[in-house]
Amino acid sequence: MSSAIRFSHPGPPDVLRLVPVERPEPGPREVRIDVAAAGVNNADLLERRGHYPVPPNAPSGLGLEVAGTIGAVGRDVTEWRPGDRVCALVAGGGYAEETVAPAAQVMPIPAGLSMVEAAALPEVACTVYSNLAMIAGLKAGQAVLIHGAGGGIGSFAIQWATAIGARVITTAGSEAKTRAALELGAVEAVNYRTDDFVSATLAATDGRGVDAILDVVGTTYLRRNLECLAHDGHLVVIGGALGPVTFDLGELLSRRASISATLLRGRPAHQKAAIVAGVIRDVLPLVESGEIRAVVDTVFPLAEADRAHELLESGRTVGKVVLETDHHH
Ligand SMILES: NC(=O)c1ccc[n+]([C@@H]2O[C@H](COP(=O)([O-])OP(=O)(O)OC[C@H]3O[C@@H](n4cnc5c(N)ncnc54)[C@H](OP(=O)(O)O)[C@@H]3O)[C@@H](O)[C@H]2O)c1
Repeated sequence: MSSAIRFSHPGPPDVLRLVPVERPEPGPREVRIDVAAAGVNNADLLERRGHYPVPPNAPSGLGLEVAGTIGAVGRDVTEWRPGDRVCALVAGGGYAEETVAPAAQVMPIPAGLSMVEAAALPEVACTVYSNLAMIAGLKAGQAVLIHGAGGGIGSFAIQWATAIGARVITTAGSEAKTRAALELGAVEAVNYRTDDFVSATLAATDGRGVDAILDVVGTTYLRRNLECLAHDGHLVVIGGALGPVTFDLGELLSRRASISATLLRGRPAHQKAAIVAGVIRDVLPLVESGEIRAVVDTVFPLAEADRAHELLESGRTVGKVVLETDHHH
């Protein structure tokens, strides 16, 4: 037997319980990981409240990213061996002592990283890379607007974009978060509660606008985001308020701009494999050299997943919340 966090009905954080579960068995192209640490994501909060479209065939239980040691490999896995220290993107079941992951979604842990730091990496690295590098094509010398600087995603996106040589403008809802964003490399950090991000973005780019926007706010920002885009710019939406919104298509046409929206968890296996391969090639070396890191706010024991959810829900965090099992040493 093994243990995992489960909930029997949607509700507040205290529905989460550590319970005994069957030990998961890896399929032919999967590995079983002895989980040392698991990242907590906004999607987990939504799923716990019953508001998340869980993809069909996703493993049971919350948890989209883990770090640990490979315990067993499936019949057709040749690239990983028991004992390897890895982190992985999983489609569910990460809040557990053991979980299974497709071999193509497993990454080596960069030298020098703790299990906790490694568990905070897969979701932010894959989301930022797939959107800003693969979709928006962000390059050195370009400008990017990153909303939600205090979040796990925002804090990583600022560092990655800065590390590749882009100029980062960012938004957050408090002075503590805008200060942290400047320390991570942003050239301009706007407190959206007191200042207008459109005029700040245009001022910071001499009126030209930005080449890419990473958006976590959704419908209410759509029109203002378009005003910030430079010619040939890309708006990549990854979350926030969804629903009908009207905007002037001419704003896109005149700028030759594009809008995309993606959810990492539901992407087909071949797309996730391509994203993970890109992250291993282009992002992990920057982590290994110490240039960038996933920012960790607080660590809780796995059994206290309810407290971890309460903290992430409070909006007080800068960076990620991570759960740790008894295997973390
Ligand atoms: N599509 C995907 O594949 C994908 C993958 C991972 C995450 N996501 C989504 O991306 C978002 C960020 O994830 P995360 O892990 O970074 O979450 P997080 O750690 O909870 O951070 C969200 C951040 O957004 C800030 N924020 C909220 N409203 C804002 C606004 N109007 N303007 C600027 N910032 C605002 C929040 O704090 P302040 O308001 O205090 O600044 C907070 O710092 C979530 O919605 C998540 O569901 C999507």
